[in-house]
Amino acid sequence: MEQIAKLVVDGKTFELPIITGSEGERAVDISRLRQETGLVTLDPGFVNTANCQSCITFVDGEKGILRYRGIPVEQLAEHSRFVETAYLLINGELPTHEQLNRFSVLLNDHSLVHEDMRAFFENFPRWAHPMGILSSMVNALRAFYPEIPERSEEEEINITVTRLLSKLRTMAALSYKILRGHKVIYPRQELPYAANFLNMMFDSPVRSYEIDEDVVKALNVFWILHADHEQNCSTAAVRLVGSAKVNLYAAISAGISALWGPLHGGANQAVVEMLREIHESGSDPNPFLARARDKNDPFRLAGFGHRVYKAYDPRGRIMKGVCDKVLGKVTREDPLLDIAKRLEEVALKDPYFIDHNLYPNIDFYSGILLRAIRIPTNMFTVMFAIGRLPGWISQWKESMETPHWKMQRPRQIYTGPEEKDYVPIEKRG
Ligand code: CMC
Repeated sequence: MEQIAKLVVDGKTFELPIITGSEGERAVDISRLRQETGLVTLDPGFVNTANCQSCITFVDGEKGILRYRGIPVEQLAEHSRFVETAYLLINGELPTHEQLNRFSVLLNDHSLVHEDMRAFFENFPRWAHPMGILSSMVNALRAFYPEIPERSEEEEINITVTRLLSKLRTMAALSYKILRGHKVIYPRQELPYAANFLNMMFDSPVRSYEIDEDVVKALNVFWILHADHEQNCSTAAVRLVGSAKVNLYAAISAGISALWGPLHGGANQAVVEMLREIHESGSDPNPFLARARDKNDPFRLAGFGHRVYKAYDPRGRIMKGVCDKVLGKVTREDPLLDIAKRLEEVALKDPYFIDHNLYPNIDFYSGILLRAIRIPTNMFTVMFAIGRLPGWISQWKESMETPHWKMQRPRQIYTGPEEKDYVPIEKRG
């Protein structure tokens, strides 16, 4: 039976359909609201607004559940690899052996970037942020790999998707090497995705990089945990920009720009900077908690809180376990891990954090893992971007394929001055 909500405006009743998602989430469908009532809705930050119906990722923020195409992220983190999870997100099902092999071969075939692009990487100032470089260079890919009119739309999309997945990783390592003035290391055919990335980052003519399977596994888990998170800020940006029918490179470049923000993907960098500050000030987290509680201080505890999770972020829990394992194996001790654990312990008992449902999010421990595998701090958000790419792509594809596709164009409630006349400059007081 169709469920309806009733809206009474000026004494007149309007019926609005209620739609229910596959996990029981309910939404009032207001798509005909303006047409029927003349009203629009006001929802700053889209806190109550579903932008689309999507069958990719399910998040239950109250229960701390995250599933990609129905599969719990815990199972993917344990059993899958990033490339397989990317395939799952983009194609809707886990691949067979044959499909996965074909996908891996394609990723390998597209892993090089046009040699002429190196000149661009070389001419960025040395202090340029790698996220700015990445979003510019992803946008530039369209110029280097223009659309071929003879190709069908489907072929064009498939090749663009494969290029992006493979080249984003190469471009990240390329910019790292070039900004340091080091020799560029090319991708190697025999190495799988994550190992290939680590090798491009850390191999050098004077010291060859030894691939450690535990580090490769940790990186796979890191990327799997970041692979999609339904309608977050950067994904919404990809859908919105994509809805103007720009090419996929431009839409992904917009996603990278959104992700750069410290409230979003930039938080992993902010966490490590905050932990370092706590360390340098004597390792006592309490003054930082006091600042986070103080309404007159804009300071927030980086890596805490989430728009959707009002429980422990399931990704944060897995990340914490991976940190313990990798730090135990590959490195010396990291004082920041101890500080993070102490900070978490104190914050979780603090009435302010309890009342506000503030728990560690994915970024709280991810920076510590990245430090342990020698990723420099300013590249943390780039690592997030590589991980989120399959999510952006699958969400973009879904939005392009939706039967009721519409260019996204929100409304507003105008609160500025009413009509008034132009005053010539000499008459302005
Ligand atoms: N430290 C202190 N107070 C906080 C924090 C925090 N980290 N996060 C939220 N609050 C408070 C906030 O001050 C507000 O208090 P009040 O209601 O008393 O005014 C209340 O909690 C709600 O905050 P909000 O900003 O309205 O909530 P939101 O859902 O818009 O914020 C958030 C979500 C992630 C932007 C926010 O929690 C935050 O700024 N966290 C720190 C940055 C961070 O770790 N970001 C990574 C998010 S996870 C990865 C990703 O999505 O990219």
